Amino acid sequence: MEKGNFTVGVFDSGLGGLSVLAACMRRLPDAKFCYLGDNEHAPYGALPEHAVRSLVLRGVKRLTEYGADAVVLACNTATVVCIEEVRRTFQVPVVGVEPAVKPAALRYLRVQVLATPLTARSARLARLISRFPEREFIVTPLPHLAAAIEEALPYGKRVDLQKELPPARGDCIVLGCTHYALLRREIAAFYGQEVFDGAEGTAERLADVLGMGNENHLRTLCNHERPRENLFGYHKKRVVFLGNSAKLNEVTYFTNICFQ
Ligand code: DGL
Repeated sequence: MEKGNFTVGVFDSGLGGLSVLAACMRRLPDAKFCYLGDNEHAPYGALPEHAVRSLVLRGVKRLTEYGADAVVLACNTATVVCIEEVRRTFQVPVVGVEPAVKPAALRYLRVQVLATPLTARSARLARLISRFPEREFIVTPLPHLAAAIEEALPYGKRVDLQKELPPARGDCIVLGCTHYALLRREIAAFYGQEVFDGAEGTAERLADVLGMGNENHLRTLCNHERPRENLFGYHKKRVVFLGNSAKLNEVTYFTNICFQ
């Protein structure tokens, strides 16, 4: 395959993975993308694990049938529940997103992680956190925030963060759900603390897996220099939205994320 000529499949329970899609598109300016957000079944975070597993396998199958050369599980919940099984089932490389615990722990003593209930109680998150025994972690499950974001964002409505977010209990915030990253700026303003999410780290990992590490790095800056109109056309040609809610995801991407 020609260098950079990849199609990357990006999967999430709904809109959250759009934050990861945006980072991957910035990081790999020559790749094409297909996005599948399973909005009908979102939120995944409060479902039984077996239900999440079968929905994720079905979604990834759809992406590989479309022709994805690599798949990004742009969903922390899917990653903690079944990334190993997804890797065993499909031939393509699979990259998962995980909470950006490391950069947060390198800078702060008390790290508050916000996540869906499934991610919050997962062994995978516990393992990640255990690598930083000198730090204090406060893991807070949020059963309603992902759903509130699904219901608000595509329709230009606001999410009542006062109602949805717990009080600050650490020195910084890690967003352990890709939906929350869509409100990254608002959450940072709410807490007045530094906020970390896993989107850029996932994009970097994807670049490594595709053999595109480092070399292209500086090109991530280029998008910001493009005039808005051209940027729109440029993005339009690079991403295909799949699934029953494709329109919802597409509209949300182009109105909320593409130009951030
Ligand atoms: N965006 C997903 C995550 O990163 C899942 C949110 C949900 O569907 O509950 O965990």
